[in-house]
Amino acid sequence: MLEWRREEYCISTDADALDVRFVHGFLRTAYWSLGVSRETVERSIQHSLCFGLYSGETQIGFARVVTDRASFAYLADVFITEANRGSGLGGWLIETILSHPELQGLRRWTLATRDAHGLYRRFGFRPLADPSRFMEKRGSSTAGDPADPEAGAVERAVALKPGDE
Ligand SMILES: CC(C)(COP(=O)(O)OP(=O)(O)OC[C@H]1O[C@@H](n2cnc3c(N)ncnc32)[C@H](O)[C@@H]1OP(=O)(O)O)[C@@H](O)C(=O)NCCC(=O)NCCS
Repeated sequence: MLEWRREEYCISTDADALDVRFVHGFLRTAYWSLGVSRETVERSIQHSLCFGLYSGETQIGFARVVTDRASFAYLADVFITEANRGSGLGGWLIETILSHPELQGLRRWTLATRDAHGLYRRFGFRPLADPSRFMEKRGSSTAGDPADPEAGAVERAVALKPGDE
């Protein structure tokens, strides 16, 4: 378990410290995981290297890395609560993740984003140099982006209100 501190803020890899209700509460309304179930979020946390960002005892941000800790890492589910955005915490979270001692010397980091390219660009991320070498296969999950005609989450998403359990 690792911890990084800055003023009243702390980033920790302690999975037991995570506020799963908070993480699920955000992710179920995020554009990339609309309607995601609590069980899916719990399972993804269990099998990822997770980073919680805290102000005192309160969690205000999250990100997770899917990785073999040897050659590749996929950065996912990055967020900061709205009230805490725009003051450098997101940048600090990404910088901290990239500095994790078990994530050094990898061949490739990947991520997907709709609009935060500028943020990740600062940390060395670039559009795929050769997209023709990458493929994807859509799974059967119905959680996802309603703007994506293949995601199929629209009906479930509109029925959700933030804060619903
Ligand atoms: C993306 C996010 C984590 C950034 O957190 P933050 O604490 O606001 O980030 P910072 O304050 O460190 O901002 C870093 C820089 O990135 C920029 N930035 C933030 N979000 C951006 C976005 N969506 N697109 C482009 N640039 C962005 C900021 O303008 C800032 O630049 P500046 O310092 O030159 O003004 C936060 O906005 C968030 O949680 N957004 C909603 C969830 C989301 O979209 N997550 C990313 C999924 S890939």
